[in-house]
Amino acid sequence: MGDTKEVNNRARERLKGICRVCPVCNGRSCPSGVPGMGGRGSGTGFRRNRTALDRVLLNLRTIHDAGAPDTGYNFFGTKLSMPVMVAPMCETTYNFLGNVDDYSFIHAQVVGAEASGTFAFTGDSPDPPLYGMGLELIREKAGGRGVPIIKPREIKEIIRLIKVAEESGVLAVGIDIDAAGFDNLNRAGQPVGPLSVPKLKEIIGRTSLPVILKGIMTADEAVKAVQCGAAGIVVSNHGGRALDATPGTAEVLPEIAAAVTGEIRIFIDGGIRSGEDVLKLLALGAEAVLVGRPVAIAAVGGEDEGVDLLLKQYHNDLKRAMLLTGCSELSAIGSQVIRKTEW
Ligand SMILES: Cc1cc2nc3c(=O)[nH]c(=O)nc-3n(C[C@H](O)[C@H](O)[C@H](O)COP(=O)(O)O)c2cc1C
Repeated sequence: MGDTKEVNNRARERLKGICRVCPVCNGRSCPSGVPGMGGRGSGTGFRRNRTALDRVLLNLRTIHDAGAPDTGYNFFGTKLSMPVMVAPMCETTYNFLGNVDDYSFIHAQVVGAEASGTFAFTGDSPDPPLYGMGLELIREKAGGRGVPIIKPREIKEIIRLIKVAEESGVLAVGIDIDAAGFDNLNRAGQPVGPLSVPKLKEIIGRTSLPVILKGIMTADEAVKAVQCGAAGIVVSNHGGRALDATPGTAEVLPEIAAAVTGEIRIFIDGGIRSGEDVLKLLALGAEAVLVGRPVAIAAVGGEDEGVDLLLKQYHNDLKRAMLLTGCSELSAIGSQVIRKTEW
């Protein structure tokens, strides 16, 4: 595999009519919505993720002795090269009109992430084998380094899928609670819906694995996640794919961090396109981030190596951005790093 340009050209070819592989993936000229690579409805949530990040600026500071930044990150006891992971993404038949097969798509995410010293979250869908495919790849190709994300199904089914994950030796499990309105699951006779605090407590009480709730967008729901006993949250609007007209995740992160920092691990995704974006979100209160669409494009255009190449780029960008803002390690990243303009 050559360089990023070659990967992108190949992805553009394979994703014709679905994704234009724009210079910056910001939802402004997406040919598709959901299904596809775009956002739901007007696409506001997708675009807003990007505009919110664009409004956070970095303070350039070079009079210090913070050379050779250490980006090492500890995810529930597992050391990663950086606080950047791959967001769960699957359902190529639904999203990519079958132009790409699910096995190689998920393989590229899991193996490419492992090659870069990090890991991939994997997804769940109405097509039952896909959840198992993610688990098999995590187990066989990454020695258990991965986290499956389960749809907000009936609780007996969620508990069953968590038990299957436990047998694969995964690092944690999660539920994308914001998929509560996904019609494709309901149509397939696999109901999804909102999960109350008692239901979540029951699910979380049935496993010793850390449980992560993905799709938190308000401080009150972050507090509820703490009450349920969740170990982590992903501040996420599903890349703008769950509900139209949501704010950007960077906008809501400071309120959420103010409410629950120190009580639960805070992860975030949505519109993260560089190591500089990672630095901004760590400064706003997240401890690690997940990257979605750019990884999907790299997987389609360059398979395992394409994903590794992209993630190494994030890693190099993050190291340089830490050096140029005076941060020798992740714990040194704080509000001194950023300058915010109005949302
Ligand atoms: C094609 C596609 C498929 C996705 N599938 C899932 C999924 O199965 N489970 C899930 O929790 N999120 C899924 N997501 C959402 C991502 O995990 C993530 O929240 C979002 O893409 C982050 O925004 P970004 O793509 O702008 O980085 C999917 C996103 C895309 C684009």
